[in-house]
Amino acid sequence: MGELSLNNLTIRYGGTTVVRNFNLEVRNGEMVSLLGPSGAGKTTVLKSVAGLIKPHAGEISIDGLPVTNLPPEKRNAVMVFQKSLLFPFMNVAQNIAFGLRMQGRRQDAQVQKKIRDIMQLTELSGLERRKVHELSGGQQQRVSLARALVLKPAILLLDEPLSNLDANLRQQMRELIQDIQTETGITTLFVTHDQAEALMMSHRVGLLLGGRLRQVGEPRMLFHQPADPEVARFFGGCNFIQGRIKNGHFQSEFATVQTNQENGNGHPVTATIRPEDVIISSNSNYDLQGEIQKANFEGSATRIWVQCKGNRFVVLTSDANFSPGQQVGLHLPPEKIRIFPSEEDFV
Ligand SMILES: Nc1ncnc2c1ncn2[C@@H]1O[C@H](COP(=O)(O)OP(=O)(O)OP(=O)(O)O)[C@@H](O)[C@H]1O
Ligand SMILES: [Mg+2]
Repeated sequence: MGELSLNNLTIRYGGTTVVRNFNLEVRNGEMVSLLGPSGAGKTTVLKSVAGLIKPHAGEISIDGLPVTNLPPEKRNAVMVFQKSLLFPFMNVAQNIAFGLRMQGRRQDAQVQKKIRDIMQLTELSGLERRKVHELSGGQQQRVSLARALVLKPAILLLDEPLSNLDANLRQQMRELIQDIQTETGITTLFVTHDQAEALMMSHRVGLLLGGRLRQVGEPRMLFHQPADPEVARFFGGCNFIQGRIKNGHFQSEFATVQTNQENGNGHPVTATIRPEDVIISSNSNYDLQGEIQKANFEGSATRIWVQCKGNRFVVLTSDANFSPGQQVGLHLPPEKIRIFPSEEDFV
């Protein structure tokens, strides 16, 4: 089993509150990413689950049992850090066996088999006798992972384990961690500040901004249905339109969209459309006309800034034949426009 429940956690360092009213459930066998910018409080949450810091308020339960007051070794949750913390004087096999030794397990045939199996799973077979300084960065992180997995914890906590690796290795390690998680079914809370990594690796993603969990859901939901403009911005949203709700429609000078949101008539609301959803054309049949201010070629797409009435729209298109100064037409497909609840609804 492995069910993690974080209820109303508040965590302070000295007088500063860095995590507020944090609630999250990670189900048995689930991989959840905790995503957020630097300083958001991700490591702090993970450390509180591992038992390395104590929350000021709230409760942490694993498999239904409160663990908030238990020491780390009694929690059945193991954390892997961003920088591998391996023992330099031990070889790979000894490092992996360390946790089992701490539990008082003898190095018998059964333990040796466990270590062999875990080394195979983490693609380390053959490196048993290597010293830590003789390993690459990726291999060191795999040893850290193996050392945690061999303990068969209920909860695996991964704190940006890939952020020190180069892009290619990082991609390979993402796939390996995903495969291991699927194969072992271990409940995993994975911390990253990389949105693509969170979206591709996890069953669900929780976005932490400034110590508050802003939205939790399946990757597609956070990406396409952000709860508020800040969440949208974190996922690369950059086009925001001000408007009002009138008779079941969002109305602005740029678009009118039917909405079933109960926002109430006349309330000011904000809507957004992703840059890849805006349609740009050099012919001027579209209702919105604008002038290109800047065009950046990014390889598979070109990013174009278009000044259109009082708004500047950012467009991502695969068509690279646009240049600054050009007059263009824009179309905002209504079905791609997301309307946020008006602020009055929150009060
Ligand atoms: N031991 C500490 N004492 C005081 N403040 C701390 C301590 N550790 C972290 N903080 C502060 O708490 C906040 C959250 O830190 P945390 O390390 O959890 O962020 P993070 O989301 O993991 O960031 P990063 O992506 O950079 O690792 C930051 O403002 C940080 O400066
Ligand atoms: Mg951190």
